[in-house]
Amino acid sequence: MAVHHVQHVVVPGTFDPVTLGHIDVILRARKLFPRVTVGVADSRNKRGVGTTFSLDERVLMVRDALKLTDVRDGVEVLPFTGLLVDFCHEVGAGGVVKGLRAMTDFEYELQQADLNSHMAPDLESIFVMSNPEYGYLSSSIVRELASLGSDVSTLVPANVAAELRRHYAHNR
Ligand code: PNS
Repeated sequence: MAVHHVQHVVVPGTFDPVTLGHIDVILRARKLFPRVTVGVADSRNKRGVGTTFSLDERVLMVRDALKLTDVRDGVEVLPFTGLLVDFCHEVGAGGVVKGLRAMTDFEYELQQADLNSHMAPDLESIFVMSNPEYGYLSSSIVRELASLGSDVSTLVPANVAAELRRHYAHNR
């Protein structure tokens, strides 16, 4: 059997906003594969309330955050609307990489991975274990803390901390 090696993966998410946990997963995906496309999902219907940051803002925040790391080559950040599997096919990726924090993530991620493999059996779903340092971290926790005026500079990239301060100074 001819083995087809996956060279290119998508790291998908809503990234509302991107956290240091996400950056860790993106850098580890890049360690495993020569090419990584970070897919920022439109997610306009997320839980019926939409996102805090616009799609453009979320894409720019991930791009700027990656500029603060030493990984440049082989990583690009693109927005997508519609199905993740269609986006993977459009960019020519052979799989999806996601981070797993705790058992509570597992059921949800397994359901999505099953659904995606039902729609696109050619795509692999690959999971990396989140850095334990960021096990409790989520975009919603970051938004909650920032909206209450707490310092989130140890949880998110510096550009995101600045963006959150700006956002919640205007929306209090
Ligand atoms: O960071 P998130 O919000 O947990 O990421 C979820 C995401 C964006 C990966 C997921 O909602 C997604 O794949 N959305 C695109 C629409 C889609 O393909 N849905 C069917 C698979 S669940």
